[in-house]
Amino acid sequence: MKNLLPEGMTGQDYYRLYLYLHILNECTPEDEVLEIGCGDGEGPAAQGPPLIAEKVYDYVCIDKRRYNNPPFNFVQADIEEYGLTGVYDKVIALYVIQYVDPEKLFKLVSERLKPGGVAYFSEGCQWYLDGPRLPAREMCNKTRWVLKKAFNSVEIKGINDGIIVPEEKATTGVFAICTNKTKEFLSNQIRYWSPDDGWMYGRM
Ligand SMILES: C[S@@+](CC[C@H](N)C(=O)[O-])C[C@H]1O[C@@H](n2cnc3c(N)ncnc32)[C@H](O)[C@@H]1O
Repeated sequence: MKNLLPEGMTGQDYYRLYLYLHILNECTPEDEVLEIGCGDGEGPAAQGPPLIAEKVYDYVCIDKRRYNNPPFNFVQADIEEYGLTGVYDKVIALYVIQYVDPEKLFKLVSERLKPGGVAYFSEGCQWYLDGPRLPAREMCNKTRWVLKKAFNSVEIKGINDGIIVPEEKATTGVFAICTNKTKEFLSNQIRYWSPDDGWMYGRM
């Protein structure tokens, strides 16, 4: 059968790019975006981050691996050790959950979202690296349960061969869209200008 994918692109790469394109569509030119675990820029799926970076106002990415000549702000660091300070309109962490402590990741991302900001997570059917594969529906439930500890609003979608589908149709993974309630956030935070990091939010 003829391979209809662009040369050098596997089905897996295509699926990953699809999630990036979905998020790209939701980004606006004013957005300040943080991506955690963008990869090393290799392979066709790596087209996603530069596309988003080109569209938005500011895009910064953190990955443990080295990224050669990144066309955006890139920090090579372990997210679990790096002290994030900025706040963002969108935070993206695709297929990173199983490599880190998910609870810590979700809390950290929640604290870095601007009021009205949106966080996107995806993962396959493994909660822990080298752990057992879980049924996709169980993965959706587990992800929702832990996300709800960190975010005010959690929308869970399924992934079916890389495509975003309703949760009940999940076969190969989970895609989550999370936000915090603006009013509650603002009542506990003050906004201030930092010459190094731009607009910041902190506890009173
Ligand atoms: C499976 S890849 C996903 C890459 C890309 N997001 C995608 O969807 O194609 C996971 C990425 O997370 C990065 N990563 C894993 N643990 C990390 C950590 N603690 N801090 C920063 N990056 C991490 C890895 O280096 C890798 O590039």
